[in-house]
Amino acid sequence: MQFAQRLEKIPPYLFAEINQKRDKLIAQGIDVINLGVGDPDKPTLAHILQAMHEAINDGSTHNYPPYQGIDEFRETTAKWMERRFGVKDLDPIAEIISAIGSKESIHNTFLAFVEPGDYTLIPDPGYPVYRTSTIFAGGHPYVMPLKPENNFLPDTERIPEEVAQKAKLLWINYPNNPTGAVADLDFFERLVAFCRNYDILLCHDHAYSEIAYDGYKPPSVLQIPGAKDIALEFHSLSKSYNMTGWRVGFVVGNSMGIKGLSQVKTNVDSGVFKAIQKAAIAAFSTTEEQLQSLVSNYQNRRDVIIKGLQSLGWSIKPPKATLYVWVPVPQGYTSAEFTSLLLDKCAIIVPPGNGYGSQGEGFFRIALTIPEARMKQAIQRMRDAGIRYGE
Ligand SMILES: Cc1ncc(COP(=O)(O)O)c(C=O)c1O
Repeated sequence: MQFAQRLEKIPPYLFAEINQKRDKLIAQGIDVINLGVGDPDKPTLAHILQAMHEAINDGSTHNYPPYQGIDEFRETTAKWMERRFGVKDLDPIAEIISAIGSKESIHNTFLAFVEPGDYTLIPDPGYPVYRTSTIFAGGHPYVMPLKPENNFLPDTERIPEEVAQKAKLLWINYPNNPTGAVADLDFFERLVAFCRNYDILLCHDHAYSEIAYDGYKPPSVLQIPGAKDIALEFHSLSKSYNMTGWRVGFVVGNSMGIKGLSQVKTNVDSGVFKAIQKAAIAAFSTTEEQLQSLVSNYQNRRDVIIKGLQSLGWSIKPPKATLYVWVPVPQGYTSAEFTSLLLDKCAIIVPPGNGYGSQGEGFFRIALTIPEARMKQAIQRMRDAGIRYGE
């Protein structure tokens, strides 16, 4: 028996290796502090659980769901887009589709639009799925470096003409995993113009749209007039409402994009469990107060980590959004060397920046998904091990 060649081209899943190391240390009885995983540590909000209990007791939710989502889910989604971003007049049938978490829909977009030999334009560092799904579809990933000096935004002027001509998809993700960077409407406007010029489907992965701090509200690319002609936006309820295990999200925007996704979906997977869609409808009515209580928990952790790193010599600004702090490694270390040092000397797990692409070299990522007390402990372990930035 032999794996298909495409599997051999896929780099090992970053967290598979990290989890292996973690399990080994835990088996040795070592108290490991895992600052690695972007999975919320708190339960799903109570009103969503309540809606789920009711929906699951209703036998009409138990059969096959419609592929694209139940009408009520798509209509509520359209209303949420208007309330949250001021994006009006979305057609719930032609311009919205439900997704089994945004990862499913991200992958399916590559299957729907990328031919063997086509280019995709993907951020580096970036969410690894953009690269692997390009490979699954037989395309060539062309990386757009995200550099600190450009505030971790890609520079489309550096994309060679022949690559732009052959590109089918351009992926962006703001608030950004792993850098924590954010983007404004001017940036979105420039990208919409670029993609329109080259007839590229602009794909905005908005997985962290609600996880933002200090009163900041991340915008939608669909706020740009005419963006619907060329753009899809990928939303997820995973991080917004502590629902990573539920697998629910949606895609909104260009009707041809939605049609392509719908065609892949009807052939490779199924709709979202109807009871989960009903619970998601309840999630869309989460009040600002409820959301702020979830977000302020991360904000406090962010402040603990930033203060702790600053006390160890790092000069680092607090990110405005996401569950992540993107941290430069001290001089003289590669990302892999420094993260190994953290593991060996402090039993702290963090992913090395180059796990998100070669441009991530020189960084590591901290996730804000463990309690403040554990974060303080992690900083103390670093202090005790003599780890400092800039010395
Ligand atoms: C940038 C980004 N996009 C998409 C996802 C996938 O989220 P989900 O499939 O849970 O919606 C993640 C998860 O970590 C992510 O970081």
